[in-house]
Amino acid sequence: MEFNGIWVVDFGGQYNQLIARRVREAHVYCEIVAYENVSKRLAAGECPKGVIFTGGPNSVYETGAPTLPETFFSGEFPILGICYGAQLMAHVLGGKVVSPDYKEYGRVAVTKGSTVIPAETAGVTSADSLLLKDVASDEMCWMSHTDYIEQVPDGFKVTSYTANCPTASMEDSNRGFYAVQYHPEVHHTPFGQTVLKNFLYEVCHCEPNWTMANFAKEKIKEIRETVGDRKVMCALSGGVDSSVAAVLVHEAIGDNLTCIFVDHGLLRKGEGDQVMQVYGEEFHMKIKRVNVSDRFMAKLDGVSDPERKRKIIGAEFIAVFDEESKALFEEEGQIDFLLQGTIYPDVVESGGGGGKAAVIKSHHNVGGLPDDMALELLEPLRNLFKDEVRAVGEELGIAPELVWRQPFPGPGLAIRCLGAVSEEKLEIIRESDAILREEIDAYNVRLFKETGVRNSENSVWQYFTVLPDIRSVGVMGDARTYDYAVGVRAVTSTDGMTSDWARIPYDVLETISNRIVNEVNGVNRILYDLTSKPPGTIEWE
Ligand code: XMP
Repeated sequence: MEFNGIWVVDFGGQYNQLIARRVREAHVYCEIVAYENVSKRLAAGECPKGVIFTGGPNSVYETGAPTLPETFFSGEFPILGICYGAQLMAHVLGGKVVSPDYKEYGRVAVTKGSTVIPAETAGVTSADSLLLKDVASDEMCWMSHTDYIEQVPDGFKVTSYTANCPTASMEDSNRGFYAVQYHPEVHHTPFGQTVLKNFLYEVCHCEPNWTMANFAKEKIKEIRETVGDRKVMCALSGGVDSSVAAVLVHEAIGDNLTCIFVDHGLLRKGEGDQVMQVYGEEFHMKIKRVNVSDRFMAKLDGVSDPERKRKIIGAEFIAVFDEESKALFEEEGQIDFLLQGTIYPDVVESGGGGGKAAVIKSHHNVGGLPDDMALELLEPLRNLFKDEVRAVGEELGIAPELVWRQPFPGPGLAIRCLGAVSEEKLEIIRESDAILREEIDAYNVRLFKETGVRNSENSVWQYFTVLPDIRSVGVMGDARTYDYAVGVRAVTSTDGMTSDWARIPYDVLETISNRIVNEVNGVNRILYDLTSKPPGTIEWE
């Protein structure tokens, strides 16, 4: 069985997903494989076009340090070791890894050639190295290691070094083994993508044919074959993942897909109508909107504890979805698949990646499906990174503002309304949030025009208003007011795991503040949240 791509063998490095994303950016398909699973997959007959070893926190000499048997280095496929992966390659093949007094962290110049044995006299010049093709000498790279390779294994040549590391890169081109001590995947190594592309194209002979246009075309065909004329249902929230998954499956099977859109009344201004307009009217998808805001408000009445709010909303969502899917079963006769917008980071982080569609019952994921409803899970995006999901969305004709939509939590505005939720407070959040979104969207567009990058370092990643349940005194038109303060939260981040408060220019903040106070009834004061995560969280509840 041919595996037409690269394995990124994970040794516990913090950049494993980043390496995989860089490979995909070079239009080559890859999967992250735990090092414990490679033998199993090889035994099952898979053969990758190449393998990249990630870094990792261990030293090769530690007991229990992740390793692979020497037989893995059969020469059947090329291997590129990065950092710990480089040291492991040296260690397993008979080289010497040591722990010097001097540790190397940060940006360092890397010089082509060798200090130990001049590479030229050993029969290869670094200029001949396919891995270092188009890489100049003395460029800056990013190092982060305590151990290094002091002596390369037989058959290997050193091809570059730094002031404090004798083996910045080494190779045995006859067997297709390459290794770099630095991290080519991080942007602090500007030539890193050249190295990775050299490995993929020159060494492994991969074709750059992993594109989202190809993916969408092939996936649609595959979904048609899998589903046939059976029926699929999904919970559409309007978020990026569920929307792209639904549009993709709709392309494949049309009206055999039914989407259930649970409108719990905790969405942002205009959001429910927008979902119906875009996916119902423009994409002609079969969507059932269930308006249950009264039901949610009744359950939330007087509840101010954040965790209780979340639990109530989660349980109520499941109850509604359960009732609606039963009703749909009755209308449609039989439904065989539940579509979900699971994406690759979810799969990797949950330690999964088996690839076979799991049969779910009852309370998984969407949760609460009746026990007698055994549905097969359809997860067409489970191998894609978020950026790839967005690109598929664009391929399918979903508007950029939807495809690049900021994250929005499942419990919605309830967790941005501190204390007990009321319709009056939700209205203030909806209106102030709409103004904030207009202004920050305009600011992000400005940055996009200036930098040409949609998610530049300064782009605001997530932004919303919160109502902290405090009122203060103000003066408006000579009259005293006693109104709500609105909090503005705007952060930069890449994945929501950590974040920093966005350094929004004062003029933008000024407009936001003036507009909210002037346009939203019941608000007389604006606060800007200056807390990073950690120690804060992005949401306030
Ligand atoms: P925190 O507040 O934990 O949020 O820093 C990190 C990211 O997760 C989003 N978030 C949620 N998303 N259901 C979701 O789908 C939730 O219950 C939930 N809570 C937080 C949050 O908006 C941020 O992007």
